[in-house]
Amino acid sequence: MGKQALDAARIKLYVNEKFKICFDESIQPMEREMSDVKQVGVVGAGMMGAEIALCCAKTGMDVIMKEINQELADKGLQTIDKILSKAVAKGKIEEATKGEILGRIKATDSFDGFESVDLVVEAILEVVDIKHTLFKELDAICKPECIFASNTSSISITKLASVARPERFVGLHFFSPASVMKLVEVIPGLLTDSDVVAFGMDFCRAIGKEPVKVKNVEGFVVNRILLALLNEAYRLLDEGVATKEDIDTACRLGLGHPVGPFRLSDNVSLDLLDKVHTILTEAYGERFKVPGIFREHMDAGRIGRKVGRGWYDYD
Ligand SMILES: NC(=O)c1ccc[n+]([C@@H]2O[C@H](COP(=O)([O-])OP(=O)(O)OC[C@H]3O[C@@H](n4cnc5c(N)ncnc54)[C@H](O)[C@@H]3O)[C@@H](O)[C@H]2O)c1
Repeated sequence: MGKQALDAARIKLYVNEKFKICFDESIQPMEREMSDVKQVGVVGAGMMGAEIALCCAKTGMDVIMKEINQELADKGLQTIDKILSKAVAKGKIEEATKGEILGRIKATDSFDGFESVDLVVEAILEVVDIKHTLFKELDAICKPECIFASNTSSISITKLASVARPERFVGLHFFSPASVMKLVEVIPGLLTDSDVVAFGMDFCRAIGKEPVKVKNVEGFVVNRILLALLNEAYRLLDEGVATKEDIDTACRLGLGHPVGPFRLSDNVSLDLLDKVHTILTEAYGERFKVPGIFREHMDAGRIGRKVGRGWYDYD
């Protein structure tokens, strides 16, 4: 782990202890040196997995990034290569550093090497059964002390953890783009050990993130707020109150959001949002149900930037 990141983590903790800001007695920060984490397994190399792998490799950890086939694994590595090349072009890192970071990431379609990883971060499809199948497979391969983490946007951590080592399972919810966004929601399941929660908080700080501890409720904090906001934006469009461009502008200039709700939906992708809306509707009722105009976009295949068209068109 990079010394700079560890120092940054310690400075933050010092400030927290000194001023007693939101200090949770059940969580003992930096109890464990992050140098314990030498190898991380990341499963899924899509929008989130590739960038989470990058966050770990940047901090000096070796990463095995696993996909369902080698083509997708290589695509994930290309995404990381592009991000690093931009950083080189902007003079933020040296070409040699880019090579070192890439050299720490093995992109693969097999579980070879997972027997020695200290932590697995899962970032595959937002479907309970698919995630359960994966965690059962991992349970049979990984060493007993390895910690399992899920980047789920909305599924209960207790439910995900029910099939494999629930005491050593924690939610680590990153935000897109994960290599840039500072926040990680750290979510304990019902049976998660307190030292595993502490590990999750320390791990996030060690990779330069700002963790917040959140109770295990559907959507956690950010997605409960975000999906309520997105739904209201879709309704405003549906009612003809304003155009999507003007609603985006209103949220940017009136609320200080960096992008408006329609642009943001396209970035996240409507198919993922649809799954999260469904889970939140089951948990909290009608207020999270998407209006017809959202469904029409889904039916038309306009699911966002990743397919070149969503609320907006992309080249
Ligand atoms: N997109 C976001 O903004 C965002 C933000 C936070 C959390 N998340 C969560 O992160 C997870 C991944 O989302 P994403 O946007 O990266 O999705 P994505 O579709 O871009 O990537 C998922 C990847 O997982 C791979 N995959 C599926 N099953 C697999 C398996 N068994 N083994 C290995 N790889 C497998 C797929 O091939 C795909 O490349 C989801 O749980 C999602 O809810 C997404």
